[in-house]
Amino acid sequence: MTLDEKADLLIGTGMPGFGGPAVGQTQNLVPGAAGTTKAIPRLGIPAIVLADGPAGIRISPTRPNDTQTYYATAFPIATLIASSWNPELAENVGKAMGNEVLEYGADILLAPALNLHRHPLNGRNFEYYSEDPVISGKMTAAAVRGIQSNGVGTSIKHFAANNQESLRGRNDVIIKNRPLRELYLKGFEIAVKESSPWTIMSSYNKINGTYTSESRDLLTTVLRDEWKYNGIVMTDWFGGTDIVKQVHAGNDLLMPGTPQQKEAILKNIKEGKLAISDVDVNVKRILELILKTPKFKKYPFSNKPDLKAHAAIARQAAAEGMILLKNERQTLPLNPGAKIAAFGVTSYDFVAGGTGSGDVYEAYVVSLLEGLAGYPIDDKLSRRYKEYVTGYKEKHKPDPNNILELILGKPRMPELVLSEKEVAEAAAATDLAIVTIGRNSGEFEDRKTKGDFYLTDEEQNLISAVTQAYHSQGKKVVVILNIGGVIETASWKSKPDAILLAWQAGQEGGHSVADILSGHVTPSGKLTMTFPNDLSDVASNVNFPLDVKLSFQEMMGANMAPAPEVPRRNLDFTHYDENLYVGYRDYVTHKKPVSFPFGFGLSYTTFSYENVKVSGNSQNGFNLTVNVKNTGKRKGKEIVQVYRSTPDNDPQKELVAFAKTRELAPGEQETLRFKITAEDLASFNEAGNCWLTKPGAYKLLLGKSVDEIVASQSVEVKNKLEKPLIARF
Ligand code: BGC
Repeated sequence: MTLDEKADLLIGTGMPGFGGPAVGQTQNLVPGAAGTTKAIPRLGIPAIVLADGPAGIRISPTRPNDTQTYYATAFPIATLIASSWNPELAENVGKAMGNEVLEYGADILLAPALNLHRHPLNGRNFEYYSEDPVISGKMTAAAVRGIQSNGVGTSIKHFAANNQESLRGRNDVIIKNRPLRELYLKGFEIAVKESSPWTIMSSYNKINGTYTSESRDLLTTVLRDEWKYNGIVMTDWFGGTDIVKQVHAGNDLLMPGTPQQKEAILKNIKEGKLAISDVDVNVKRILELILKTPKFKKYPFSNKPDLKAHAAIARQAAAEGMILLKNERQTLPLNPGAKIAAFGVTSYDFVAGGTGSGDVYEAYVVSLLEGLAGYPIDDKLSRRYKEYVTGYKEKHKPDPNNILELILGKPRMPELVLSEKEVAEAAAATDLAIVTIGRNSGEFEDRKTKGDFYLTDEEQNLISAVTQAYHSQGKKVVVILNIGGVIETASWKSKPDAILLAWQAGQEGGHSVADILSGHVTPSGKLTMTFPNDLSDVASNVNFPLDVKLSFQEMMGANMAPAPEVPRRNLDFTHYDENLYVGYRDYVTHKKPVSFPFGFGLSYTTFSYENVKVSGNSQNGFNLTVNVKNTGKRKGKEIVQVYRSTPDNDPQKELVAFAKTRELAPGEQETLRFKITAEDLASFNEAGNCWLTKPGAYKLLLGKSVDEIVASQSVEVKNKLEKPLIARF
């Protein structure tokens, strides 16, 4: 292979028309995919295709001069998948997603994404799983296994600590080794060890001064030496700045690739600044990757995946990841034949998923009303809303010349303000009201406080007016949250009778909501993050960019935008001063009240935990068993969470394992088994740069949520266990 060919292989074939970051897109091979590598026909090396993203393959649905369509299934967002606490479900969804990757002629899906929900307002939290690394890692591993079972690859991303969108291309994460290891690397470590993803995407940000794509400590020492990873690493699109450092770090592939990068590689080799041995290592790994791909194996893709079968998987998965947050006076399931009034613009404009590279071009989205087709609906109210929604959208189309609007879409439309009379009429004419609250977000921007985390005044007024009108007639109100991330609930949650957190449930959303409301499916999702009472309760809130406005260039390519003289706190750098106290680790340890705790979710039935037993020892691992019995009147599934508490009791509770029962009929029971090893009880020790399991008394806590522990078992670790690490940050 010539030097020129080696350089070609290290960089992608670019994004014509884009001089800097935008959502990845190429017209090569599979139009609308995020990028391709370079073919070297002389050597029989094909170009391989990389396509986003976490909720399904993102490609152009139509092609010029082609009557065929290429729609993909919009599966539920990753946060919803995680809320199922069911790795088998994540794997099944992965199988279907991976099949679309294969059948549409792509080779690598740029997913799953597993950055931690460090703060509720990260614009991309919907693409990620949780505020906890164990659930993030386990769900990622399951999804990777499912996708890769098709013979296509994954790219777990964004490695690592990419926890804000604002100035993501330059943001320097200032963090101690313990939270980095225990929280931000842990999920990736689990995923690498339990699923061998073909590729990993380094992130845009820096960690303690070094771009992750330029960090040999991260990409070679941690990933390859410590974790024994043997796949490739690619940059995020246009990530990092110093190509010599990137190649040396073990960032094998530079995406999407620019001609300047090729020149730089050749020039630096010539000048002796880039070792050919570094280049060769990366070239070899890229070749090994290409050998595995459908493209190399000349797979005859059909361009006709079974979208109908995949829609059924999306519908079932979405229903299992929805969370019942409140259900008083047996409001749900609905009485058959109940006449319903649907309030809120989102009832008529359902959100399937977020924006940016996490978006999918689906053929349709099932709206709430389509889902509720079996119920009589208040037509007068629906007509009023539909007119408003269509009229608003007609007047506020994204400007095709405005790249930001094209990627992010227009801001969501304001809530329709109804008159008191209109609400009263609906209350008189129907048996029950649904109020849907919607949110959307995506990459490039973090979410805002007013009108996003906090409800708008119009939304608050709508909930108040509808609940007052319905309650005055002895009728009930259900709030549906069609959102991609945490919002404020403490101020209004007492008003409605029931609250269903439907998340952004993919293209079948309306059907899945109806499956839950009707009782066809018993809700069995639980929260993988906390809903705090207020933003000021979030430990990282003082170290998060709240409501900032950035220039277009800073949003799109912060690593290329001129840096200000004085670096700006929470933009150019962010201190992770909250240390380990992210999410429930903070609320539980510091006894802060929350609106809905981590792990919480209601069911239409009830479960008892019986016969909790622990056996084994720290040398061979502890075996924990519990019989979960359905003590209610409806079928259902239960999620059991196992938290550890260490001799230091700080953080007080940390998730170490979880499991979900199969669907249990009333009276039926299942024994769930957990294996907890001494390694699962380890903490990172800063002084020794090692994983350390101290001898002493530990507790294994079985919980329905982090705040509802139903059984506690003490276990003793006899001998100290120490696992030294090589890299230090
Ligand atoms: C995103 C990645 C994505 C890539 C390619 C970037 O803007 O951060 O998650 O895979 O674009 O579209």
